Amino acid sequence: MLTAEENELLTRVGPGTPMGNLLRRYWWPVLAADELGRTPTKAIRVLGEDLVAYRDLSGNLGLIERHCPHRRADLSLGILEPDGIRCSYHGWCFDASGRCTDQPYEQTANPNSRFRDNVRATAYQLRERAGILWAYMGPDPAPALWNWEPYGWENCFRQIVTAEVPCNWLQAQENSIDPVHFEWLHDNWTAVRSGRPERAAKHLKLGFDEFEFGFTYRRIREGGTEDDELWTVGRVCLWPNCLFTTDHFEWRTPIDDENMLSITLATERVPVDREPFTQETIPSWRGPIFDDDGQWILTHVMNQDFAAWVGQGRIADRTRENIGPSDRGIVMIRRQLLADVERVARGEDPKGIVRGEETPIPLPLVNAATFTRPRSRSEYEEWHALLERMGFPSDYPFQAGQPAWVRSLYQEAMAAPAGSPRAEAGVLA
Ligand code: FES
Ligand SMILES: [Fe+2]
Repeated sequence: MLTAEENELLTRVGPGTPMGNLLRRYWWPVLAADELGRTPTKAIRVLGEDLVAYRDLSGNLGLIERHCPHRRADLSLGILEPDGIRCSYHGWCFDASGRCTDQPYEQTANPNSRFRDNVRATAYQLRERAGILWAYMGPDPAPALWNWEPYGWENCFRQIVTAEVPCNWLQAQENSIDPVHFEWLHDNWTAVRSGRPERAAKHLKLGFDEFEFGFTYRRIREGGTEDDELWTVGRVCLWPNCLFTTDHFEWRTPIDDENMLSITLATERVPVDREPFTQETIPSWRGPIFDDDGQWILTHVMNQDFAAWVGQGRIADRTRENIGPSDRGIVMIRRQLLADVERVARGEDPKGIVRGEETPIPLPLVNAATFTRPRSRSEYEEWHALLERMGFPSDYPFQAGQPAWVRSLYQEAMAAPAGSPRAEAGVLA
């Protein structure tokens, strides 16, 4: 349980708030890179600020305040230039640093005018990594942009999936250190909703640990032992905004105090008979959270999570909780955030900041072999059969709404090669 003041402090993310100051020390995933390929300017809202992400005619990325400093027109409707973006209302132009580089009428009327030197748009750094665009909205110098080792795994099919979720980001991040919810929200609830009588293996023992880049939770469920990787390694609550489960990263980016963007990078190794496999572009798609009747979509793992987080309220009232032994990890991360608010106020770096080289950083891995050594076709088939037994769609179990064009890319990547006995038998996936 928190006091109302602590809850307020932990959940308000706008400019100038203590948590807003802390969170602005980190790089935030804000958009899939291929979204800017499809639409070269994109209006986004991050940490309560309205912004426009764009790629100019030279291919440079920019992130600028949404409303033009002249008279507030929408720069997401702007005209791309070789070095920046031009407002479509009166033609003022801004480069990626926010400098005003052109004021067509003002400079025609008075060629010696230096008026533009007094005009500046708020602009932030935007970088691409792992098919995702990352924004840094804090003071200089920016830290290194994390380069997690799994980004470099070869022979993998990747996809990026986003969803806007109408709740505060911290509810989602607390889910990154919440082992028991899996047994209920995903296993038992799915069984109940599918009319299956069996119930999932119970959690018997939990462990929570801190490491340099976050926290881990460890579990033993009925039938498990202390030799299992879910006990010896655990799942990763990656600091400050992510759940990492080896096969996917789930970032939670605050849109503002009451909305967040879920952004997932899902990775699956292709069967060995498809190697070598490379992907030119990582495809991305936006998933719905409600169906056409306005009801929750609950068929996929993360959709179930979204419903749980939003069910806690736009901003969960943590003064009314009853925190128990399964919530030890949640207490750890709240304490860390509160301590880091103080650290930032003292001018120190908070947890998880890297400075210097952007060399690959290893992470704790469960089932690493699925990615780091060739995967047989039967392993691939067993994994998909398991997902189906659990009641999840096997092409993409995490989130509903995968468009047909992404599914085709996936099936093409995974399909048994033409002429193989499996392809002849019609075994695609
Ligand atoms: S409002 Fe943008 S140039 Fe006038
Ligand atoms: Fe979950």
